[in-house]
Amino acid sequence: MPTGQENIWGKEMLHYQELKDLLPQTKEETAKIINLDQSAEIKSSELSKIVVKGNQSLNGKIQISGAKNSALKLMCACLLTDQPMQITNMPTALRDIKTLAILLRHLGMTIAMRDDGVCIFRAGDIKSTCAPYDLVRKMRASVLVLGPLLTRFGDAKVSLPGGCAIGSRPVDLHILGLEKMGAKISIEEGYIHASAPNGLKGAEIDFPVVSVGATENTMMAATLAKGTTIIKNAAKEPEISDLGNMLISMGAKIQGLGTDTITITGVEKLGGSTFSVIPDRIEAGTWAIGAVMTNGKVELENIPKSLLGNLIDKLILAGAEIVENGKNLVISRKSDHIIPVDITTEAHPGFPTDLQAQFMSMMTVANGTSTITETIFENRFMHVPELARMGAKISTSGNKATIEGTEQLKGAEVMATDLRASVALVLAGMVADGTTTINRIYHLERGYENIVQKLAACDVDIEKI
Ligand code: EPZ
Repeated sequence: MPTGQENIWGKEMLHYQELKDLLPQTKEETAKIINLDQSAEIKSSELSKIVVKGNQSLNGKIQISGAKNSALKLMCACLLTDQPMQITNMPTALRDIKTLAILLRHLGMTIAMRDDGVCIFRAGDIKSTCAPYDLVRKMRASVLVLGPLLTRFGDAKVSLPGGCAIGSRPVDLHILGLEKMGAKISIEEGYIHASAPNGLKGAEIDFPVVSVGATENTMMAATLAKGTTIIKNAAKEPEISDLGNMLISMGAKIQGLGTDTITITGVEKLGGSTFSVIPDRIEAGTWAIGAVMTNGKVELENIPKSLLGNLIDKLILAGAEIVENGKNLVISRKSDHIIPVDITTEAHPGFPTDLQAQFMSMMTVANGTSTITETIFENRFMHVPELARMGAKISTSGNKATIEGTEQLKGAEVMATDLRASVALVLAGMVADGTTTINRIYHLERGYENIVQKLAACDVDIEKI
């Protein structure tokens, strides 16, 4: 079995040969196939830092990548069919995408990923239904292979993902959904072992808490279950609808996407299809906040305003001007200073927790005091002490942070523990006086495609060293 440690370039080419009738044939295109051997890359970027010069504005056009938090689930959904799937607009430069690809390939999936975002996945010859600790521990989203493997093969063993920097993050709701559909589940030696030798059965599942991942795992499992599954209190994030739409394109019967009740009628088999990932609303939101914070002007390419939801209202309150230009959004600041705005993170359509750190970074230089309440994750204020190193005035009490705007942050050496916290520090570095050095950029590369190149193209003095 290949592991993340060995060089698998040769193997990847073999996959490419196997799939060559599905991929474009020119030499240049062949050269675009991505080498999934990331071990050397991880080492180098653990040692790498990002250096941002201060007193800068974000000015220019940014092409928004495909949404990481959709792409990961779409890849898992490819386990549901033995037919080839072609997915485009994949953020293939992201470390999380490569990590999941290595896990899926370990299970036996044939994968060819190109750096222009065109990918082929084929789970025609799955050899293992066990996702081992060593591959799952690198990324919690790996638990999303559980539903697809169980429903298609009747058995799945997935390492418990464990906690992470933003909280304990249990998977009890994922288990609840599958148990309701008749799976026998046990926890053995750190693994979730789920079995349903005669297949899953449709059920009514009422989640006590809204969970993106549990909704997705349950929805995927229900596509091949016997009968109808009704998911109540389902998550409504656009990435859930994206997954649902891809499943529908594969032949699944799903209704109610984007509402809190999703109904899935199981089918015997799903087929292959071609699908394009939605744009990354969190990446777009990050650069929109960056434009307002640095008093710059960015044109975000190919992102509908509706996808940014609640953030748009909050940015306008903070002094932003937002103009639609065809399929693009142009964001700048029209007020002299940043106006303090309070936010509370909530499940969609509320303010996304994945933009909380970036918004807080902006509020550190607002003209007054604001509060931020984090209701989704128990420990998502890890950026607070780092922002404080740059002179930010933030106090926290439980899940509430009070931010007293300061006129000028100061560049410092900082470190972050999750990807949104890391990017919040990049934004702070842009407005600070002096130079900011961000350590552990490993996190940034998990979720922001080509971040240095994208920002450098917008007049930001930023480099990876
Ligand atoms: C997804 O995580 C995203 N990850 C997160 O993005 C995002 O912050 C989160 O949804 C909320 O929007 C991916 O899509 C890969 P949840 P997920 O299940 O699915 C609790 C980023 O920065 N819970 O909606 O894991 C849980 O602890 C990442 O890109 C249970 O109690 O989030 C949390 O408090 C970080 N039991 C809340 O529910 C469960 O079984 C919401 O979590 C599952 C979740």
